Amino acid sequence: MRITVHPSSREAASSAAEELVAQAAGGGLHVLGVATGSTPQPLYRELAKHRTPGLADLTLFALDEYVGLPEGHPQSYRSVIERDVGEPLGISPSRIHLPDPVAPGAYDAAIAAHGGIDVQILGIGQNGHIGFNEPGSGFHSLTRVTPLDASTRAANARFFDSIEDVPTHAVTQGIATILSARRIVVFAFGRAKADAVAAAISGPRTEQMPASALQDHPDVSWVIDEDAASLLPPALRSNLGRAVELGASL
Ligand code: GLP
Repeated sequence: MRITVHPSSREAASSAAEELVAQAAGGGLHVLGVATGSTPQPLYRELAKHRTPGLADLTLFALDEYVGLPEGHPQSYRSVIERDVGEPLGISPSRIHLPDPVAPGAYDAAIAAHGGIDVQILGIGQNGHIGFNEPGSGFHSLTRVTPLDASTRAANARFFDSIEDVPTHAVTQGIATILSARRIVVFAFGRAKADAVAAAISGPRTEQMPASALQDHPDVSWVIDEDAASLLPPALRSNLGRAVELGASL
């Protein structure tokens, strides 16, 4: 587990984008798992500055999708990913895959059929969810339809006209699905994520903190700003901009 604390989200995103562009140029990035929400937006903006054939040839797998929004709804994750990632990077919509709530299990098979995910981009919810795996989600869970916690609907209501418009369910990659990616890069910015970041990195491995499942993965990079790092032990947040390596045992 690598933790890199940056002075700002922009610097974090710029550094992470350069790493991904280099990985794509070197032939090591063909299938990218993409998250939605505000956190990865700076990364997507930075990647768009590098618009290259290596990025345009990517296949994208979304982390999750709301259930019940009409096709083409601007806040459906298909719309969000096409708008914020596909179009800026020149990736054809036919290479953008989202889970289907009618056949969620087919998604894990589709990911496997593409050789698995090379890099999975993650954000983290204030309650520690990854994707829409809410507290209590099993660490062996696969892609499935799941209810959204009230706190998650409230946090995501900012993208809708009212809380009533926020779906009550979503289809999400399961925790085991996420962990099957070869590499995971988790972004977190702002003081509101500090508790979840500290619990996920330094706290116990527990299903009540879904992001703590990442402690089991062999190649996880946390890319965070100083506010999101503010509750981590000082040793983990002392070298701004430089990665701190953590062993499997914390
Ligand atoms: C939603 C998404 C998650 C995302 C989370 C945090 O629940 N399903 O993938 O990490 O929101 O969003 P934000 O980055 O806007 O705080």
